[in-house]
Amino acid sequence: MLLKSKSCSIIFDTYRSKLIYAYFGKSFANEADFKSLLQNPWHYATETCYPLQLTYPAFGDDTLDRVPADGTPMAGMDPYGALSVIHADGVTSTVLDFISAKTKEETGARTIVIKLKDNSRDFFVTQYFKAYDDCDVFETWIELTNNENGAVKLPSMDTFAMDLNGRGSSAELFSLASHWAAEGLLSHSKIALGTSASIQSRNGIHSAWEANPAFMVGYGETTETTGRVFGGALAWTGAWHANVSVLNNGAISVHAGAVNPSGPYVLDSGKTLTLPKFIFTWSENGRGEISRELHRWARNHALPHGKELRPILLNSWEGCYFTFTEKTLTDMMDGVKDFGGEMFVIDDGWFGRGEFARNNDTCGLGDWYWNYEKLPNGPEYIAEEAKKRGLRLGLWFEPEMANTKSDLITKHPDWIISEPGRETRLGRGRTQVVLDLCNPAVRDEIFRQIDEILTAVPYITYIKWDANAAFTNAGSPYLDKEHQPNLWFDYAMGYYDLATRLAGKHPHVFFQACASGGGHIDYGTLSSYADEAWGSDNTDAPTRVLIQWGEMQFYPANSIACHVTASPNHGTRRPCPIKYRFDVAMSGRLGFELHPGNITDKSEIPFIKDAVETYKRIRPVIQQGDLYRLVSPYDGDYASIIYVSEDKKRAVLFYYGLARGICKNYIPFVQLKGLDADTRYKIKEINLSEGNLHANFPETPIGGDALMTMGVSVRLGSCYDSAVFELTAVSP
Ligand code: DGJ
Repeated sequence: MLLKSKSCSIIFDTYRSKLIYAYFGKSFANEADFKSLLQNPWHYATETCYPLQLTYPAFGDDTLDRVPADGTPMAGMDPYGALSVIHADGVTSTVLDFISAKTKEETGARTIVIKLKDNSRDFFVTQYFKAYDDCDVFETWIELTNNENGAVKLPSMDTFAMDLNGRGSSAELFSLASHWAAEGLLSHSKIALGTSASIQSRNGIHSAWEANPAFMVGYGETTETTGRVFGGALAWTGAWHANVSVLNNGAISVHAGAVNPSGPYVLDSGKTLTLPKFIFTWSENGRGEISRELHRWARNHALPHGKELRPILLNSWEGCYFTFTEKTLTDMMDGVKDFGGEMFVIDDGWFGRGEFARNNDTCGLGDWYWNYEKLPNGPEYIAEEAKKRGLRLGLWFEPEMANTKSDLITKHPDWIISEPGRETRLGRGRTQVVLDLCNPAVRDEIFRQIDEILTAVPYITYIKWDANAAFTNAGSPYLDKEHQPNLWFDYAMGYYDLATRLAGKHPHVFFQACASGGGHIDYGTLSSYADEAWGSDNTDAPTRVLIQWGEMQFYPANSIACHVTASPNHGTRRPCPIKYRFDVAMSGRLGFELHPGNITDKSEIPFIKDAVETYKRIRPVIQQGDLYRLVSPYDGDYASIIYVSEDKKRAVLFYYGLARGICKNYIPFVQLKGLDADTRYKIKEINLSEGNLHANFPETPIGGDALMTMGVSVRLGSCYDSAVFELTAVSP
């Protein structure tokens, strides 16, 4: 059985009563060759899969002997198991036999549905693998069905386990270390023979803190363009882990899945549990290709509006925080309209009433009612003002949270994550609590409140969904005592239920996922309802070069919100030229987060207007093109990336100087990537500040081959200097 993506394949085979991976890697031209190479049952290690490897290994399944009768060594059974089940009768082993497989075809994609069953118990597994024609990304997910005569417990419930045929003695794990204001920092570690590396997030809300649930595994040394690399991402907005081990036989074992930090998940009799999707891809040409395949998949198949260009917006937060009147908002609208922007978003502070009016972070969350004392003419007036200026309108919510000082929690003190007999520990503002989204009544009430506003003011077409607390006192008043460990998983399912109900009822609304910055950057969120994520509360442009470099390893440019903010930066107090701030934000989804009226250097305004117009022109290349990373900001004094349109007719090249103490005036020749070698390109520097050029290119076009072999050299004059070039194919 064969499942093909654009240029990769998974081959499944049966061995005794088992379903095994026979191959995962690049496809061959001739399918018959697969069959010829599978003649010898002991040698399934053709390219990337290790011999006799179960597609879903379960703890305690020893039906595949490690050394069979003929003496040929084989390490078929995963030593850890992706799944472990304590069955209704207390038995702890699970032996999954292959029952059936069938392929469902749809236009441009196909899904193999595999049925497995425990050989002596009514415990069933359905395993799905989906592949697309237009990218090399596979999706896989699992359904566990308990038809035993009592509840079972699931100490581990990974979605994915595969042993790659490492053929070597080490691997490299590339992942993103993350915490507040420092999300997406690229981390890189060598995994030696016989050792493992793990990444995880276990705070219950910020799935992308500690680490992001996306990673690459390189076979030995890899670069952006060379080496064999596996890329994976768990689509899950909850607690999770991923583990990569280099087994003593050289195989690279990859596991990933959701976890329940407080104990095994309890699956009741008659119930089915769907585990999160795992997304994976494979490259023989280095890490850059992994990113581009994930980006293409995200744009074409995951993000709800992945193919639509994103509006240039101004978010009010860093411009006025909680302190604003209607006039502040309309002034900001005037500013963004004058810049050429397309949307205005009111951040935190527009809601809550009376004593709970949200004028600081100590109260109001959970009361999603317009604050008429602060904004007397209501949302209709604000919508009208936005409309008059030709701007779309967005609104901030924090639907998963409440303050103890709110109408909601006054009425429903038992609607929060908490534990009996323990004092509830409070978060932001010393009053913030997490709502118990396991409870359908809680979800219904938050849905009702948000839906009421969206229905009353359909002009609101953008929601920033924030989440600023982690689980403390991790207990659910809704779940009974046997099911308390389910909180971690059921909360995430409650979150998806609430968000997808809102998105489903208001399909024209575009959602941004924010969780104290980049805490919700994962493909669970960025496929179920959200189109983009707030990259980080750290808006300091030089730091953003590092953060965006990391986040865009896995998530496409149109999904990472990057805002131009005031100088000096509100967080780091670092001053930075307006051009640099723009050049950095323009490599993702451009926006603003400042009060336009507070720009003291008015000579910046013409540059801003030009830059906005420029972004509108290059936005299709940035937001829909392929990203090629040229020089890493982690390696030296400057960084460079290029976006190339899918037809290779347009490209945008960015350079950023970095403050490392040494400022080089000249950057050595950098070889461009992704262009068409046989096409000639005209190069023009854009986003010029005071007319200062960073390189001279002739009017005559230059060959893509020369640009990619000899490369280009530019001059960066100071630490925070930057340059942007537009490349346009010229017909011969
Ligand atoms: C945290 C977010 O990351 C910020 O952008 C802002 O929305 C604040 N919350 C508002 O409280």
